[in-house]
Amino acid sequence: MELQNLILEKEDGIALVTINRPKVLNALNADLLKELEAVVDELEQDGEVRVVIITGAGDKAFVAGADIAFMSGLNPLEAKSFSQLGQRVFSKIENMSKPVIAAVNGFALGGGNELAMACDIRIASEKARFGQPEVQLGLIAGFGGTQRLSRIVNPGLAKEILFTADQYDAETAQKIGLVNHVVPAEELINFCKGMARRIAARGPVAVRLSKEAVNQGLDMDLDKAIALEADLFGLVFTTADRKEGISAFLEKRKPAFTNK
Ligand code: HXC
Repeated sequence: MELQNLILEKEDGIALVTINRPKVLNALNADLLKELEAVVDELEQDGEVRVVIITGAGDKAFVAGADIAFMSGLNPLEAKSFSQLGQRVFSKIENMSKPVIAAVNGFALGGGNELAMACDIRIASEKARFGQPEVQLGLIAGFGGTQRLSRIVNPGLAKEILFTADQYDAETAQKIGLVNHVVPAEELINFCKGMARRIAARGPVAVRLSKEAVNQGLDMDLDKAIALEADLFGLVFTTADRKEGISAFLEKRKPAFTNK
């Protein structure tokens, strides 16, 4: 598939996906979301790729939201389909078997913040700004934002963010738990690549099952969730990587994981 709205680069087991519509601050339209879905499907199948990083082109925006000009022509049924398209793509990102890091390099507004929230880990540049400005347009968040935001920050804060359309700087976003780290703009991608490399060096099945345990467990009560953890802990003992990881520790050498 020829990519019109995205740039995909792969290096040493790390895929860097750049949302590439800088003239409109990387706003998301249906074509872009379909391309993103195809790229996510490809990366899911790519056995070489261990970690995915998503960022925005240019120095101003990660993604400034869904494309407002595109949405202006939608009828209610088309609007629902657009919402469902974005939700499907973002759920695929959330449920990928490999970790996904959002490198938030500027505005992450509306659908942009929703994309970042579908990623496992959010790292912000000092220039990043976050918010859900939909109510300013007479809309509501529609790519999962009402649900993911209230799970990531507390529900009261989520409602404040959704009701006021206020923007939040990177430091505030970190304070409320929306982002893990804030780094200087020029260091953002290298910081994310460094973290991706550390993750890529760990046991791939163990990383995958850790993600599965957290994601699935969040929707369960604690007893069921820790039972799932025990099941996955047992499962990881079927892997060659578990033998290799433990042997390497005991033999005081670096493990050579095979993803098996
Ligand atoms: C389409 C957009 C856009 C968007 C910016 N642009 N955001 N186009 N959709 N979401 C375009 C502008 O029209 C402009 O085009 C160019 O990008 C540069 O933007 P400026 O406004 O000139 O930049 P600046 O003054 O620096 O302001 C930056 C900004 C502002 C604060 C981010 O652009 C802004 O408020 N954008 C809209 C943010 C927003 O409301 N997002 C939520 C969308 S709703 P021209 O041609 O004039 O140069 C949403 C719903 C998701 O996301 C769920 C859907 C189901």
